[in-house]
Amino acid sequence: MFNFTTKGGHRVALRPEMTPTLARLLLAKGRSLLLPVKWYSLPQCWRYEAITRGRRREHYQWNMDIVGVPSVSAEVELVCAACAAMEQLGLTAQDVGVKINSRKVLQTVVAQAGVTPEKFAPVCVIVDKMEKIPREEVEQQLHELGLDASVVDAITSTLSLKSIDEIAAKIGETHEAVKELRTFFDLVAAYGYGDWVLFDASVVRGLAYYTGIVFEVFDRAGKLRAVCGGGRYDGLLTLYGSPKPIPCAGFGFGDCVIVELLRDKKLLPSLAQEVDDIVIPFDETMRPAALQVLRQLRAKGRSADIILEKKKLDKAFSYADRIGAVRAVLVAPDEWTRGEVTVKLLREGEHGKESANRGEAVKVVDL
Ligand code: HAM
Repeated sequence: MFNFTTKGGHRVALRPEMTPTLARLLLAKGRSLLLPVKWYSLPQCWRYEAITRGRRREHYQWNMDIVGVPSVSAEVELVCAACAAMEQLGLTAQDVGVKINSRKVLQTVVAQAGVTPEKFAPVCVIVDKMEKIPREEVEQQLHELGLDASVVDAITSTLSLKSIDEIAAKIGETHEAVKELRTFFDLVAAYGYGDWVLFDASVVRGLAYYTGIVFEVFDRAGKLRAVCGGGRYDGLLTLYGSPKPIPCAGFGFGDCVIVELLRDKKLLPSLAQEVDDIVIPFDETMRPAALQVLRQLRAKGRSADIILEKKKLDKAFSYADRIGAVRAVLVAPDEWTRGEVTVKLLREGEHGKESANRGEAVKVVDL
């Protein structure tokens, strides 16, 4: 938590994630909300972390959540959306993968070992640290939670199971978790992202509220922390006061790790500034006319800028170049009296087929 005491003596925390906010929002909407809903958001989040590559104290996080769908088709849709986003960025299944597990597996093993249900979420939070802190320390924390050595062994051996078949051998082929995992993999393959996903029993995720399938996107080179993480959290809304459980699943996809990955792969998109039109008044007497042209262009939905100060033409054109303008629209006295302006195409714009290329007179009405 990024928390502190304000000058007024209030203890506050900056939002570390969006999911509790989403839960409150859903509850506020109450019955007026027709389920299922699919929502996304791009919140800024803060965590008081040790800063490392891809880990910041402040980041933006794309969230996508599906509310009201109890079946794994929700998780399938979410994971495929994350894969599609990465594919659009130029990444492939050789660059990234999505590790899939179900918390229901560990929950069953822990329950069979006699651990009371309220200890399950803390167990997951501790187990999630397995890759970050020494194993002995994890085991120590589990002991401190009141788990004896045989339970700790049962947990660690479950985390190292290698396939859904091994899970099935342990908890039974008809177990809900096994059926859900098998359906999930079948459906993701049917959608076409089968080679992006893999089963990994060690993924439990560090947030207490997950109840079913959990997943994490990782870089296959193993250099970075998780690119994205999510899962099913059917109990969270009850925690915030919902009279009945509402099935939810979602993920958070941060901006920092993906940028590092895209930079490594030389896939960072060029986000060069681009303006459709730069309007250039020939001189200050033409500024009122230039402003009319500017307004007309903006009303058409074009991004348009204007030279704000008296500038020589060559300086105006070098400004146009600096802002990446596609067209220069010169408003000069003679043309203006004929209801025309001079349009010069400076570069190939997003719109492609611009009407002029080297300073042609264009009727203002046709701009
Ligand atoms: P999370 O795993 O804590 O899950 O965070 C999701 C993603 O946010 C991470 O995979 C990473 O991309 C990014 N992220 C988290 N912390 C940092 C940080 N300090 N610096 C940079 N990036 C970071 C959640 O937050 C859940 N609320 C996700 C979710 C939504 N589950 C269901 N719906």
